[in-house]
Amino acid sequence: MKIAIGNDHVAVDMKNEIKAYLESKGHEVINVGTDSSERFNYPVSGYKVAKMVVNGEVDRGVLICGTGVGISLSANKVHGIRACVCSEPYTAKLSKQHNNTNIIAFGSRVIGIETAKMIVDEWLAAEYEGGRHQTRVDMIAEIEETQHLKAAEE
Ligand code: RB5
Repeated sequence: MKIAIGNDHVAVDMKNEIKAYLESKGHEVINVGTDSSERFNYPVSGYKVAKMVVNGEVDRGVLICGTGVGISLSANKVHGIRACVCSEPYTAKLSKQHNNTNIIAFGSRVIGIETAKMIVDEWLAAEYEGGRHQTRVDMIAEIEETQHLKAAEE
């Protein structure tokens, strides 16, 4: 798979380790995060990876900041992104099977590198199940498409 990876200044080491790990598994990884420990605002990376995913430049995205929260929130503001922050592999796997997530996020201050590897393994191996889940994923997209119109009506 072709995967974009992004991070902020507190997640440089984990980003490098996950990038190398994914490459060792045969994936092509495009790094758009910072490689410096200088303060770096996570929305920059979250947005870059999100745009690459929705534009079809990559198949999936991986985002890492201190908690995974800020960077996933940033990505989720881009139409078509379903980014999930998680700290264990079960949620990562189910987020693909049921929610068809296209970005996974986690926190370098929250989990260790081995858990991070398990998360990406489970998430990349999982397949979206569609079916009843598609109705709900479509409803999420509908909120995205119409909420500004509905807000104007209220
Ligand atoms: C940076 O200090 C920290 O706020 C960031 O890495 C992340 O945890 C935000 O959600």
